Amino acid sequence: MSSKFWATEVAPNPRRSSKVFSFFAIFVSSAALSVLIFLSIGSYPLPTRVQIQRIPINAESILAQCAAISEEPGPSFDFSDREKSDRFEEGTPATLIRNARIFTGEKNGSIELHGDIFLDNGIIKGVGRVPRHLYANRDDVVKINANGRWVTPGLIDLNSHLGVLSSPITRGTGADDVDSNKGPILPWLRTVDGLNTHDDGYELAISGGVTSAQVLPGNKNAIGLQAYDTFAGGQSFFMKMRKTAARTPVSMLIEPPNELTGIAHKRQRWRHMKHTCGERLRNYGNRMDHAWSFRAAYESARSIKEAQDDYCLKAQAGLWESLGGFPKNLQWESLVDVLRGRVKISAQCDEAVDLDTMVRLSQEFQFPIASFHAAEAWLVPDLLKQTYEGIPAVALFATNYRTRRETFRGSEFAPRILADAGIHVVMKTDHPVINSRYLVYEAQQAHHFGLPASLALASVTSTPAAAAGLAHRIGSLTVGADADVVLWDSHPLQLSATPIHVWIDGIMQIPVPAKGDEDNEVEVGKGKEGERWLEPPEVPNWDKERKEAQLWDGLPPLKGKRYSDRVVFRNVKDIWKVGQTGVTRTLVIEEEPDQLGDVVVEGGRIICSGSTVCAQHLQKAKVVDLEGGSLMPGLMTYGSPLGLEEIAAEPSTGDGKLYDAFVQDIPEVFHDVGNTLRAVDALAFGTRNALLAYRSGVTMATSSLNKGDFVISGLSVTFGTGSSYVVEHGAILQEITALHVKISRPNPLEGTPGVSVSSQIGGLRRLLFGWESRDQETGHWFRKAAEGVVPLVIEVYSADIMGSLLMVKAEVEDRIGSYMRVVFAGATEAHLIAKDIASGGVGVILIPARPYPHTWQERRILPGPPLTNDTALVTLIENNVKVGIGIPNAWEARNTKMDMQWAKLESNGRINEHQVLMMVTGDLEDLLGIREIDDSARDLVAYAGGNVFDPTSKVVAGSATLHASTPRSCQTYG
Ligand SMILES: *[C@@H]1O[C@H](CO)[C@@H](O)[C@H](O)[C@H]1NC(C)=O
Ligand SMILES: *[C@@H]1O[C@H](CO)[C@@H](O)[C@H](O)[C@H]1NC(C)=O
Repeated sequence: MSSKFWATEVAPNPRRSSKVFSFFAIFVSSAALSVLIFLSIGSYPLPTRVQIQRIPINAESILAQCAAISEEPGPSFDFSDREKSDRFEEGTPATLIRNARIFTGEKNGSIELHGDIFLDNGIIKGVGRVPRHLYANRDDVVKINANGRWVTPGLIDLNSHLGVLSSPITRGTGADDVDSNKGPILPWLRTVDGLNTHDDGYELAISGGVTSAQVLPGNKNAIGLQAYDTFAGGQSFFMKMRKTAARTPVSMLIEPPNELTGIAHKRQRWRHMKHTCGERLRNYGNRMDHAWSFRAAYESARSIKEAQDDYCLKAQAGLWESLGGFPKNLQWESLVDVLRGRVKISAQCDEAVDLDTMVRLSQEFQFPIASFHAAEAWLVPDLLKQTYEGIPAVALFATNYRTRRETFRGSEFAPRILADAGIHVVMKTDHPVINSRYLVYEAQQAHHFGLPASLALASVTSTPAAAAGLAHRIGSLTVGADADVVLWDSHPLQLSATPIHVWIDGIMQIPVPAKGDEDNEVEVGKGKEGERWLEPPEVPNWDKERKEAQLWDGLPPLKGKRYSDRVVFRNVKDIWKVGQTGVTRTLVIEEEPDQLGDVVVEGGRIICSGSTVCAQHLQKAKVVDLEGGSLMPGLMTYGSPLGLEEIAAEPSTGDGKLYDAFVQDIPEVFHDVGNTLRAVDALAFGTRNALLAYRSGVTMATSSLNKGDFVISGLSVTFGTGSSYVVEHGAILQEITALHVKISRPNPLEGTPGVSVSSQIGGLRRLLFGWESRDQETGHWFRKAAEGVVPLVIEVYSADIMGSLLMVKAEVEDRIGSYMRVVFAGATEAHLIAKDIASGGVGVILIPARPYPHTWQERRILPGPPLTNDTALVTLIENNVKVGIGIPNAWEARNTKMDMQWAKLESNGRINEHQVLMMVTGDLEDLLGIREIDDSARDLVAYAGGNVFDPTSKVVAGSATLHASTPRSCQTYG
């Protein structure tokens, strides 16, 4: 009999009548018991005309189970009555936060209040006007004056691998616990089974205001775990970052589902799962194979679900005869729950083709999708709206794109475009892809590129909470919600906004409670006292760029319009220059005070400044209004493979396979023991990352070959990011810049341990001693490095290894009688031996500028406020080390401006703008051995609406050496 028949004819509504049913069931089951007893003592066969209904002993629990499977999950029915959080830790004092600006997160982030917040028993007990009786006459209330500063809900990271790809990564922890290699479809796997409670990332995340996250499995399984390469993912869980008294993974979870804990809560709780599409699943076939794997899996789940529904209809109708056991299958039960609409799915499907497949799958099998984590979602909003039962939220990075073909068309304008289409936008980190600590930075960038401030803040608070089905307890500051609260030093959308206080479940996490008598007081927010810091930053207008991005399917042309003659910049405030001795800044003086002036640029050079002086040069010129902006030197970037590849994960866009002289025989054709190669031979011009960098004011880059864990990475090249091809005039600024090596402990993500550190240093020492013939590249260039003719840039992270390298340097210099130019790049732990690095005459390029302890050799970071007063940058500068800042990934080059602003802001006034500018111009050039750049040859960049340190400023033009016939020209945008 089909289930339809049962449904229409006999099925009672399980919700309405479950009470009646259980009562009835108790009655009949005891009756059944007596019938069975009678049968067992009587030895006669049953008379055939008597129909005995065999009602099983567990009929009641069967009926309860049947009632439960069709119930919608959610907060327990009496949730709003709770007096105390289930996560409350006894002994936590109540807290009253007074005089705060409150972003509540409600109504798409549109509600702001001024007032107080009261936290008690792990719950928010009052917001805005807090009734006095709640806290008066109590002596256990901690009172904190917010002094009018902003308070927000604790931030929520909807896409994270905290705990399963934990820090520092070792083979024993994160490396293995995020993806399974057992197949594409693994919905039975649970990230909580790999959740490391000792991840260094938790405290760092809290220090960025992040209080909860969805821990997803990897991307290598289609259903299942989110880690490196999973496909159909696995079950994910929501957790809070704080250490619990129980110290267990499960105690870190928020509302773990009944299926995990075995606790039968009266109401079902939401479950969470990851789905993945596309190129990350290549181990398991192509896209067509993946789609079939999904359909086959869902077909298995569907047949189990139908058997269950049939079974329950019979049980509910009292037809127990030969009913047997409840049909279940431990492998597929979670997918059956997906079909019952009880699982919040996070689908990582980047491209339109993958989104289309996933939307069709949701329609074919009739299940909803909570969120898409999708680079191309903004290109197909109408497709998203066809998802079964409701439009998913879309989780995005701000600017982390072009790392795979799948994300090549990702756009910084996507959040705004999706919001305009009525789709909920969530900003994410995919930690550790981006350090979870900087989740709010993703929201800041989304706001910078056009997302309204209220939605930008909601995108990391209430919107992800709603997408997760957890809005009743996290993501908003409302009475009854969990007491996860952040008090910020400035408006959270201001770059480098830092928490002064963070509470999770009402327990203060920041400042970090002292263990013993140490001094834990950290200075936060110095220099952000003015009223303007309490407003969201003003942002540039990107209407034109956003429309172009849409028009060109995500790949708008990035070259500006070229003018080889004259350009007049109107309303210029000042001109900044970089020279040997540092930065100079000249105001463009006009007759009237405070009046802004004209600057005329011809052939890429300033020919006059000041309106009176320039009056005669204004004819036939292109006019650009800088609205009080500045003319500044072009910035440079180092550390990433910029210009050596178009897409990091796409070998066909890069240089290809290289030979590692330390582990394999170099083919004879090279006849060079170290196989020292030149990056200039591998350049690819006009990559989108390079052009975006150029348009963001970064006009020059030094890159060395991307050789992974190789010791010798060869000779770097310096080139113009706006250039079109290698022999174009001015494209190559310095063909051979520095010699690069990497000295590193074994990479935990590699199956085989690499070459030992002692072997790497031994080999380096030998080459620097000059024991190889000078008529090979290796012998030649290592000799030059030993003599101090070219800089030796050593990628190194561990302070111990840096110490050993200082000894090698001294040894070589002693032997050769030279003075080597050595630079430590990466240098995460350099602050530990800053004095010795300074006295050893070694420079440092910090990559990234804000460190993260990914691996053991870089675990001793100096995280900066609110965890430490000092940052690595400040420590190095104050110890007189020459410092540059760099980036690990090519997509980040465009964000150099943000890195600069951040370096200044988080130093609490200990580093000034001029010093920061030198870190990405003069000092960085000097460290890398770039020959002195003549003032007239330096690229100029025009910023409208401010200078490089203003969040409102926007690059509107840049000069570069473009054509041999017209040596320098000016490109303008807009
Ligand atoms: C929030 O935004 C969504 C999507 O644009 C919209 O459908 C909804 O009505 C908004 N809610 C409120 C309360 O403004
Ligand atoms: C941090 O700096 C502040 C202000 O200078 C000082 O009071 C505090 O003791 C410092 N904290 C630590 C841990 O050094």
